[in-house]
Amino acid sequence: MYNIIENRYLADDMYLMKVEGNLKGEMGQFYMLRTESNYPLLSRPISICDIDENSITFLYKVFGEGTKIFSKLKVGDKINLEGPYGNGYKKVEGKVALVGGGIGVAPLYLVAKNIKNCDAYLGFRNESVLVDEFKEVCNEVFVATNNDFVTKYLDVNKYDYILTCGPTPMMKSLVKMTENTNTKIMVSLENHMACGVGACLVCTCKTNSGNKKTCKDGPVFWGEEVIFND
Ligand SMILES: Cc1cc2nc3c(=O)[nH]c(=O)nc-3n(C[C@H](O)[C@H](O)[C@H](O)COP(=O)(O)OP(=O)(O)OC[C@H]3O[C@@H](n4cnc5c(N)ncnc54)[C@H](O)[C@@H]3O)c2cc1C
Ligand code: FES
Repeated sequence: MYNIIENRYLADDMYLMKVEGNLKGEMGQFYMLRTESNYPLLSRPISICDIDENSITFLYKVFGEGTKIFSKLKVGDKINLEGPYGNGYKKVEGKVALVGGGIGVAPLYLVAKNIKNCDAYLGFRNESVLVDEFKEVCNEVFVATNNDFVTKYLDVNKYDYILTCGPTPMMKSLVKMTENTNTKIMVSLENHMACGVGACLVCTCKTNSGNKKTCKDGPVFWGEEVIFND
């Protein structure tokens, strides 16, 4: 169990939770979070948004019961963290664009801190979050709010790599935009999970080389590998 040292509302049902501890984790990996009461029974996968030797930070959006319970936690409450799990974003060199949709910006903040000289494209359904923080670590930051598509500011040909996380239609259209270009794209899938460690198959996704476990083989895959559901 770890101590919560911050859990504050940002905007549009999104919260920032900071937990005390010297935890491990790479960009694009996630932890399974569960409250002290162990209710709901299953842990919830949440990406590492930021990490240092004293704390780990999660950015989460309230969707259902589990994330609602997280949002009620106070400073000093405890939370169970299991991880880090999964294969995250590969560290790449060259011109890099990060494209985040909604809560998908969460893992990209740690990427932005790790990969210098990248640009960020951040799209939000309503209000934006973490834009100032991205501006501190990125070259250029493009923001779209109120259902505007941030991808309209993106010329994929300007970049060697695109690293994205967000709604499936957004990631699918980005993969399409990179077809027949020299730009490589990594996508982070957010399939439902139960165990988080490759034991239950709840998170199965389809790829060109057969079914894969999002939790163990991913959540980050090369875009060209993934067969998105229609
Ligand atoms: C690898 C990974 C990393 C993630 N990182 C983050 C993160 O950094 N921040 C964050 O806020 N969320 C993240 N998520 C999503 C998060 O795990 C879910 O939103 C959360 O589990 C929902 O739990 P709940 O109990 O609040 O909602 P539930 O009661 O489980 O579900 C509420 C509603 O949301 C739908 N739903 C739940 N989970 C998903 C999902 N994964 N995809 C689509 N619909 C879903 C359900 O069908 C239901 O309609 C991540 C998911 C994965 C797999
Ligand atoms: S969540 Fe159980 S196998 Fe991936």
